[in-house]
Parts: sequence; structure tokens; C-alpha cells
Amino acid sequence: MLSGVPRATVSLQTLTHNLGALRSRLRPETDILVPVKADAYGHGVVATAKYLENEGVLWFGVATAGEALELRAEGVSSNIVIFTPVYNGLEDLIAQDVALSVVDLQSAEAVIRAASGQKARVHLKVDTGMGRLGEGTEASLATAKRLACARNVELEGLWTHFACSDEPDRSYTETQLGNFHDAVSALEREGLEVPLKHTANSAATLAYPESHFDLVRPGIAVYGYHSSPHSAALAPELTPAMTLTAPVTFVKKVEKGQSLSYGALWTAPEDTTIATVRFGYADGYPRVLSTHPAAQVRLHGRRCPIVGRVCMDQLLVDVGELDVQVDDRVVLFAPEGPTAEELGEAAGTISYELLVRLGARVTREYV
Ligand SMILES: Cc1ncc(COP(=O)(O)O)c(C=O)c1O
Repeated sequence: MLSGVPRATVSLQTLTHNLGALRSRLRPETDILVPVKADAYGHGVVATAKYLENEGVLWFGVATAGEALELRAEGVSSNIVIFTPVYNGLEDLIAQDVALSVVDLQSAEAVIRAASGQKARVHLKVDTGMGRLGEGTEASLATAKRLACARNVELEGLWTHFACSDEPDRSYTETQLGNFHDAVSALEREGLEVPLKHTANSAATLAYPESHFDLVRPGIAVYGYHSSPHSAALAPELTPAMTLTAPVTFVKKVEKGQSLSYGALWTAPEDTTIATVRFGYADGYPRVLSTHPAAQVRLHGRRCPIVGRVCMDQLLVDVGELDVQVDDRVVLFAPEGPTAEELGEAAGTISYELLVRLGARVTREYV
């Protein structure tokens, strides 16, 4: 029976390998928080978080209340931190022991109002230069004082996020680190000792040991990718956990001069064989790569070009002389290449976007 569907195959052993590679760079007192937001960077949040929890991961990071509650509903009991402020449904999150980010007095008041029976766990975000969430030292100190005198709030974490830690020039990150130290000192001078300080994303985990503090938050590195070539050079042992494949659904001979797909953009330069593949831009292949030289798949170990426009559900591959049958699987990206990083760069984006844009029709499989 031919039943091929697009499939993202996640190697759990590779996740363990990457986790080990990262842990080996940490001091024993530093723990690891794995961001599993955006469906664990496309790897499937429930299976990924459950596996990592089994591998001893005690902290997860998410972006939304819904993501946190899904993990709890699925039985994940490790610590969960939401990276963005939440203003509604806080009671439920507090009851589920989810740690909340506070970014200013307004978000602090929302948590204080919601915290009654059970203590609300709060991580105060300080803006040290990313400019996305949080405030500088002085305002953050005022928020910390407000939290400290609220009865049902535990100020558990103090954190920030880097803007440029994957770049060779260290000056911006060093300034951010200095600003973070200023914030820590300002709170300590007021007698506010926050037990967990955390700043480092993947790139900083690799390049700035002095940013490790109590927790590091590497996301993309756990999944085996890097945010920049500079960062990649620091940890070549990290390996992509995902292999993305899709089935051939139709094979035909095409004569020289015949044009294919929308816009008839591609015309066969000679007689060849074309395989139609069940994967399109609705599944996450960037349409902008239509006719780009980097738009290639691997089939029977050989790289073959994608030709013509990428369609919503399908794309076409020039397989040349290869013997190809319906239901053979093409590799869209994999550790051996083409890689999500190559495709991301060609598409003017980053591997993260390719991973998180994988569509609902792509089945996840764990091996
Ligand atoms: C607050 C926060 N921490 C950590 C990360 C992980 O970043 P990376 O995947 O680059 O390691 C992210 C991701 O964007 C984030 O938003």
C-alpha cells in the first residue's frame, strides 16, 4: 500500500547528544532551561518536552499561556517559565505552578491581583539592550520592590535577553552583561536576593561563559542548529535532530522544451524525468526558493534540483537519469544536507523560521 505523507523525523538520541554537548560547557551549578515554544521549534512540543524531561531537563521555556497549559495538561511537571507577560487567565497559570514573567509595574500588578491561594512564581525581565520587553535598572528595581512586598508572590528569577550574542563583535553583549550586573547589584543593595539569574540563549551559552549564571536558555542549539555561522564555528558537534522527507506521488518523462508549473517559469533544457513530490509551501517549503539554485532535495543519495514554482501542496524535482518510483522519499532537509540552515539562508531567513513554519500536515515521527 502506498501511504506516504510528509514527515519530520526527530532523532531523540540527537537531542540527547546536543543536550550533553551543551551541558559539558556549563559549571555544575548552572542548570539548563530548554525553550520549547512554537511547538518545540517545530519538533513537536509534547513528545519533545516529555523526552527531555526524562533526560533530566528540569526547566522549559514557552512564549504563551496556552503553551504552558498544554505542557501541564500533558503531564509535564518540570518547571515552566513563560517568557512574555500574560494579563489574562493568570489564576490558572499560578494554580498550575507556571512561572510568570513580569516586565513592568502593570504586569506586576496583574500577577499580584491574581495571586491569592498559591504563591505566584515571578521572573522579572530587565531590558539591558534588546529593547523588546522590560525596563532598565531603576524601573526594574521599583517593580522588584513592589513584588517583594506582595504577600503571595515569590520573586524567583531575574533575567534578560541578548540581541547580538551570535556576532563576532562582543561589545554590545558585554554592555548588556554590564547592565545586567548593575541591575543585580541594585536589587542586592536593597536586600533583594533573586535566586535564579538567567541571560544566555544558545549563542551566549557557547560564546559567553560569564553569562551562564544559574540557568542558561539555549533553544536552537538543543535542536542542533545555530543562529549564525560565527556561533556554528564554536560548536561544530551540534547535530540537527530533524530530517524532513516527503513522498514522490507521480513520475513522468518530460521532453526538451516542455514548461512546468505555475508561470511556466522552467523549461526542460533536455529530455529528463520529473518527480512530483507531496510537499508545498503550505507544508513549510519557502515559495521564494522557486528557481533558486539552493532549492534541492536529496533522492537516493543524490542532490536533485527543484524546478519551476513551488506550489501550495506540491513541488517538482528534476531527477534526470535516476530510477525513481512513486512513494520513494525525497529529503527536503537533513543533517547531511540540504540543511535547514542552507535553505534558510537562500530564502533570506534563518533555520528557526523553516522549522517553526512546518505545517500541520507534516507528521512528526520520533526515532
Ligand atoms: C527569552 C528567550 N530565551 C531564549 C531563547 C532561545 O534562543 P535561541 O533559540 O537562539 O537559543 C529565546 C528564543 O528566541 C527567547 O525568546
